[in-house]
Parts: sequence; structure tokens; C-alpha cells
Amino acid sequence: MKNNYKRLIEQTYNFPLEGFDLQKGILHFNGIDLKKILDNYGTPLRISYLPKIREQIQKARNLFNQAFKKYDYAGSYEFCYCTKCCHHSYVVKTALKERVSLETSSSYDIDLILKLYEHGALSKNVTILHNGIKTEEYIEKIRLLQHQDFKHTITILDSVQELERITIQELDKPIKIGLRISIDQEPKAAYCTSRMGISKKELLELVKDKIQTNAFLELHMIHFYVDSGINDNLYYWGEFKKALKLYTQIKQLVPSLQAINIGGGFPIRNSLDFEYDYEYVVDEIVRKIKDVCVQVCVSEPDIYTEFGKYTVGESGAVIFRVIEQKQQKDTELWYIIDNSLMNTIPDSCSINEKFILLPINKWENDYRSIHIGGISCDNSDYYNSEQLNQKIYLPSFNDKSGEDPLYIGFFHTGAYQEAISGYGGIKHCLIPSPRQIIVDKDEHGNLIDYLYRDEQSVSNMLSILGYDY
Ligand SMILES: Cc1ncc(COP(=O)(O)O)c(C=O)c1O
Repeated sequence: MKNNYKRLIEQTYNFPLEGFDLQKGILHFNGIDLKKILDNYGTPLRISYLPKIREQIQKARNLFNQAFKKYDYAGSYEFCYCTKCCHHSYVVKTALKERVSLETSSSYDIDLILKLYEHGALSKNVTILHNGIKTEEYIEKIRLLQHQDFKHTITILDSVQELERITIQELDKPIKIGLRISIDQEPKAAYCTSRMGISKKELLELVKDKIQTNAFLELHMIHFYVDSGINDNLYYWGEFKKALKLYTQIKQLVPSLQAINIGGGFPIRNSLDFEYDYEYVVDEIVRKIKDVCVQVCVSEPDIYTEFGKYTVGESGAVIFRVIEQKQQKDTELWYIIDNSLMNTIPDSCSINEKFILLPINKWENDYRSIHIGGISCDNSDYYNSEQLNQKIYLPSFNDKSGEDPLYIGFFHTGAYQEAISGYGGIKHCLIPSPRQIIVDKDEHGNLIDYLYRDEQSVSNMLSILGYDY
């Protein structure tokens, strides 16, 4: 066959490639025979391949340690797992077995930490970074951890007001804090400065006026996170340089400052032609920090990362069966899958996130340009591609002949998709569903209101995530 799908992929990309290969006409993902899984469990389904999480953690550690050796870097490297990208107990526990530190984002995250402790999955010596905006409830629970003798909790302040909220109750023992620097957004962004973090202008004043003068506050870390990712471009290195400069200025004021946290943002393979030189980027991070510290004569900080997507993204896949082909126009053929893209990989519909898309079977068939649509009624429930001139090619097949259906998989979907789509009732950053009030009119036309459902409880959320055994 001249338009064979397999030939198209082999000629366009460097295929097979890490994690993907074809055996007897069936796609294998990290050595997993996907057809066997489909035959056992049916579709649609999600797969989580846990060894990938371990590999990613080890790879990051190796790269930093290698760069440390090269530059004779005196600080240490701390890999923090950012729970918000996937809270499932099987993921967090896998990461913890690699002795990672953790980053939390909201109050229910602290309950999750306590559950992990209860189940013996972590000790009170684990380093826990408290990021995100601190509500009263979140602050209360951070305090609870500190009182329960978790020894290394670092509360990263997101605003000046947050410090006031944290110190409103007199502190009875010193706490470690960090300061998050707000980042100037890329020129194309809808706003100039991120709402997360403290403006560079306010930071130095805050340190001088409120932190240096309070013996109960031990400033340990400077944090910044460029949410467009750690990209080897002028914008990223520009923000990096500004943060580094602030770090050294503050370090000269506060000797206890010991760590710089560069947040998340390591990318993952989201297309077959993805290229990213992790080794070079880590080398640059370490080299730049070392150079600046030597120039201004301050000691090199410990480097923390909070890689989320990088840690868990490539461990996930979601697989569908094509249940129908619909020729809507001569040139427009739709493959309708047996679920909704909005409900399974919502980022593909909302922020145009790309995932690797490959068929599981029928690689020897001709290929054709198609659109992929979900079975929900929403117009946006479709998948678009930036590869191959915006077109998606998949094997053609005959759905009337009773032959095996076509199965397709979206790969590297392991980060954020479940929380954002509300899998089972979980929520992004574990922020619970608000209470719901119903308002109606009685038979006399008077407004009446009642509580339909209370705010989602911690136990409900953690039970969905597998913490209540
Ligand atoms: C403070 C912070 N750290 C880490 C991350 C993880 O980012 P990524 O998944 O891109 O690595 C996020 C994501 O929103 C974040 O806000």
C-alpha cells in the first residue's frame, strides 16, 4: 500500500522512539502491549505507567549532580514533587519512594500529607514546601503540621498580606519561610505581571522591615516560577537573571537564606518531533547561578525544583475506540471516539495543549487526514494538531465490515488532566467544590433559599484519590 500509515510515521519522524515501538503491528507504550490491555479492560481507559515517574526523578537528579560536579558547585539539589499535577496516592507514593520532597498548594493538600504520614509513606523529616495562596484554613493546617513536629516545612509567602495573616497569631517557635518573586509575563500575555508572588519592588522592603526584624521568621528560600516553562530563550533567561540578582541582594542582607527554588516548568515530549536538551538547560542553570554567586561573593544556594508535568506527564495515556466515521463534507472526515476529549484531556480543548496521538492498531492501512471528535454535544470537544501542517493523519479503516475497530491513544497525559476534568469529583489544586445554594420562589412569590449541598469535604476528595484504606 503506498499511503501506508507506518511508512508515513517512519519517514516523518525518528520512529520508533523512547517509549514507543511497534510489535507485530501493535503499538507498545514503554513495553506495554496496548492491545492486550484493551482486550482485557475495554475502552475508554487511562493507563498510568509508574516506572516512568521513577525514571524522571532519577534523570533530573543525575543531571543536576553532573552539573554540580562540573562546576564544583557547593550547594545541593532537592527534587520536590508538586502534588497538584497528580494527587493520586499511587503517584505520590511512587515519588516518595524516590525520597522526594513535596510541594503543597492548598489546605486539603495538608490533609493528604497527614494521611501519607499515617500510612507510613513519609516521615516527619520530609521537606514540605507550602506554596499557593494561603487562606486562613491553609495557614491553620500548616501550623498544625509544624506543631506535630514536621521538621522541615517551608512556607513560601505569596504576598505581603500573607505574612500578616501568618503572624496574626503569635508564633511560639521560629518557622522557615520562603519568598515567591512575581514574574513579568511574556510580552504576548494578557497582563504584565503574574498575580502569584511578591513584586520585586516590595520584596526588599518586606525583607528589611518585616522579616529581618522578626526573630521567629527564618528566611530560607527564594522562589520563582516562570509558568510558560523553562525554555532556552531570552525571556526565560531574563527572568532567571532578575530572580538571581534578587536572591544575591537578599542573601547579603539575610545570611540564613540558603536556597533558590526555580519552580516547575520542565517540558515533556508532547509530539513525536519534540526536542529539548535537558542536559544543556540544567548545565546553564547551574553555571549561571555559580557565576553570579562567585561574582558577588555569596555562597551557592541549594537548588530546589518543583517539576510537576515533567515528573508524571509521560507516565499517562488515554485510549479510545473509534466508534464511527462521519463524512461531513467531501474533505472533512470525522473519527468519533467513545468518550469526550473535554472530559479526559481537557487541556487539549481549553488551552490547546498537545499530546502525542497514535493509533494502537492498523498501522499497515492507508492513512487519511481526519478530525477527532468526542461524543459530548459540545462543539469544542475535538482535537487539533500543530504537526503535519495542522492535519491529523490516522489509518483508514472500514467500520462496516465487522473488522477489528480502530483504537487510538493520546500519550503523555499523566499531568493535570484528571484534576482539571474533575475525575471522580477531584479538583484542580484540591480546591473543594463550593457549597451550593438553591434560590426559588414559593407559591406567594417570596424568595426562598436553601442549602443543596455543603462544601466538598476533605474525606470525599481524599477517598477518590485512594487515601482511605
Ligand atoms: C508554584 C508551582 N510550582 C510548580 C508547578 C509545576 O509546574 P509544571 O507542571 O509545569 O512543572 C506549578 C504549576 O502550576 C506551580 O504553580
